[in-house]
Amino acid sequence: MIIGYAQTDPRFGEKEFNFSQAAELLKDVKADLIVLPELFATGYTFVSKGEAADLAEGLEGPTLLFLKSLAQKTGGALAAGFVEKEGTKIYNSQALVSEKGVIGVYRKLHLFNKEKLMFTPGNLPLKVYTVKGVKIGMMICFDWIFPETARTLALLGADVIAHGANLVLPYCQKAMVTRCLENRVFAVTANRIGREKRGEDDFTFTGASQVTAFNGEVLSSAPENRVFIDTVEIEVEGARDKRINKFNDVLADRRKEFYINT
Ligand code: ACM
Repeated sequence: MIIGYAQTDPRFGEKEFNFSQAAELLKDVKADLIVLPELFATGYTFVSKGEAADLAEGLEGPTLLFLKSLAQKTGGALAAGFVEKEGTKIYNSQALVSEKGVIGVYRKLHLFNKEKLMFTPGNLPLKVYTVKGVKIGMMICFDWIFPETARTLALLGADVIAHGANLVLPYCQKAMVTRCLENRVFAVTANRIGREKRGEDDFTFTGASQVTAFNGEVLSSAPENRVFIDTVEIEVEGARDKRINKFNDVLADRRKEFYINT
């Protein structure tokens, strides 16, 4: 399977520009799964809930239609973040889309910082989806700091975690080595670059998108400050064998009776 990411530099509120940038970056790319950053079409630093709501869309909106048309060109699925509207609620969501349409939507469970003022926390169970025989799980950015997220996806059978991000802290890429190693899964962390100075906030996004293998190896690492695209070929079987030696299996060896469940 060929998996990869597009590391973009979105302009706040300019969906058409952000679509064009992603399309241009991916114009010569063929891949089974490409991950784009969290909120790649809108930008991140909303100054009010109303502003986020104005950029929100349903599943028939322009962002998911754009992803569907892009998937026709890349020949596989795309996972990408968008502001999702359902009724009066808005979510920080990530869609998995193929040339046929939407395969699934994940709503960010662990909202970061002022996202709590803008979005309703995710209300859907973690799930895995099959793309070309490979099981794809989804999480978004700050979900990395809650190991339960990746562990749950691994228990559900995920081979690859599509992890769109808008990272402002430097810890995630190193943590993803552990997330992948402890669950023996692959992950694609697609981050953005650039700066957003809006309202009281001034964020510089840290790039360094990364593909991490089930054994903790970093298969691809993007620069910190420029748009970038990369793909790698993976043997997904690595993620299906949870043994780390003859005696240890990272899922089967768990001592659940000694863990607390709250
Ligand atoms: C984040 O969750 N966007 C840091």
